Amino acid sequence: MPEKSSHIPQHIAIIMDGNGRWARERGLPRREGHRAGAESVREAVETCKELGTKFLTLYAFSSENWSRPRAEVRALMSLLKDFLRRKTPEMHEQGVRLHAIGRLGDLPENCRAELTRSIEQTSSNTDLNLVLALSYGAREEIVDAARQLAREAVAGELDPESIDNAAFQQHLYTAGIPDPDLLIRTSGESRISNFLLWQISYAEIVITRKLWPDFKGVDLRQAAAEYARRHRRFGAI
Ligand code: FPP
Repeated sequence: MPEKSSHIPQHIAIIMDGNGRWARERGLPRREGHRAGAESVREAVETCKELGTKFLTLYAFSSENWSRPRAEVRALMSLLKDFLRRKTPEMHEQGVRLHAIGRLGDLPENCRAELTRSIEQTSSNTDLNLVLALSYGAREEIVDAARQLAREAVAGELDPESIDNAAFQQHLYTAGIPDPDLLIRTSGESRISNFLLWQISYAEIVITRKLWPDFKGVDLRQAAAEYARRHRRFGAI
């Protein structure tokens, strides 16, 4: 039986880091690290389903990742496209609904088409929401929200005085998605790297030394258990 309780994080967000180092340690090209990382994605989805977690957000490609060598960007886009094509039927069967956040217009056309197809095919599923952050940057997201609010104000559709946390949140890419309860970063780095800056205000953070391709279901369960042990106070006593 899946364990379900209020101590289970309803939304887990992950900064998947360490693919390159995993490959280097094995004398492999970096793209092999990313390929192994895609397997960990599959395992994370399965484990979230078993735990009863409702949202899993993965930092799959940041705004800054565009500045990597062209061959690596191409390999990542191709991996994403293949992953979506191969895994969508399986995700659909498992009741997984796919979402994407970020400046999706920046993605290559064939990648975007595959993404749109997967999102449409899984749109009626309710067991687990898998949110892929693609061409995503939190500052860019906040700027885009501010720009949209300004447009509405200039058009006379919005009173600037009515802008509060809730109104702002509704203009983020994550509108309608609850804030993450637990943020995990792999590979031992203690950085947020422009990920979900607004949304992680109250998230519990777990950093693990495991490199992303080595991060298995058992590691995700351990992070969820660590989350359950912490006493969440939301700034109160
Ligand atoms: C960070 O490792 C990882 C990425 C920039 C990309 C994450 C992509 C995947 C896990 C594979 C594809 C994803 C999906 C959803 C199919 P790094 O390259 O920065 O590692 P390093 O810090 O060791 O160099």
